[in-house]
Amino acid sequence: MRVHVANHPLITHKLTVLRDERTPSPMFRQLVEELVTLLAYEATRNVHVEPIAIRTPVTETTGVRLSEPRPLVVPILRAGLGMLEGMVKLMPTAEVGFLGMLRDEVTLQPATYAERLPDDLSDRQCFVLDPMLATGGSLGAAIDFLFARGAQDVTAICILGAPEGVAAIEKQVGDRDVTLVLGALDERLNEKGYIVPGLGDAGDRLYGTV
Ligand code: PRP
Ligand code: URA
Repeated sequence: MRVHVANHPLITHKLTVLRDERTPSPMFRQLVEELVTLLAYEATRNVHVEPIAIRTPVTETTGVRLSEPRPLVVPILRAGLGMLEGMVKLMPTAEVGFLGMLRDEVTLQPATYAERLPDDLSDRQCFVLDPMLATGGSLGAAIDFLFARGAQDVTAICILGAPEGVAAIEKQVGDRDVTLVLGALDERLNEKGYIVPGLGDAGDRLYGTV
């Protein structure tokens, strides 16, 4: 498994505002979208392309286009939905599938309550969107889901990750082709399974239910 932790002053600046408890939902949503677009640049580094010939107003030349089958973007509901716009802005021709997962706040186990994905993901590159990688239960279940359908490789984009979650995913995926792209790797989880220093409950902050 490859892990890429962003190291860029603009990303750190935006993350700082995002973490601040005084940041209201509209600004929080805007920042999540901007951060995803910045992280998506790194996450799509190995997206499959094929050569094409084109004509500019001056001459003939060659370029590339995204290969078929198209990449699949999978936001994990609810909080991952806040990352979708920022991702498809960068890759507008990607297909989008959905997974709904809710973590039990006592056992910290994820339950899948919705699934809308293509049946066959053979040869597909999949990009999972979930802002928070805490214990890794939700992301781990999503990754298993995608490989069980035949996905070729999975790249997860998370705004924040905890070392415990990264270790759990690493152990779970074995030699499958998985990449994690994180905005920041935080210190630890607290006794309630929240990322420290973190940003609180991402879904509540995105959708204003605090
Ligand atoms: C949050 C977050 C992740 C999950 C991370 O979702 O968006 O999906 O928790 O925790 P884990 O790594 O320990 O599984 P939550 O279950 O709160 O649902 P929500 O997105 O609907 O708020
Ligand atoms: N889910 C969140 O929204 N925040 C955390 O810190 C952990 C899980």
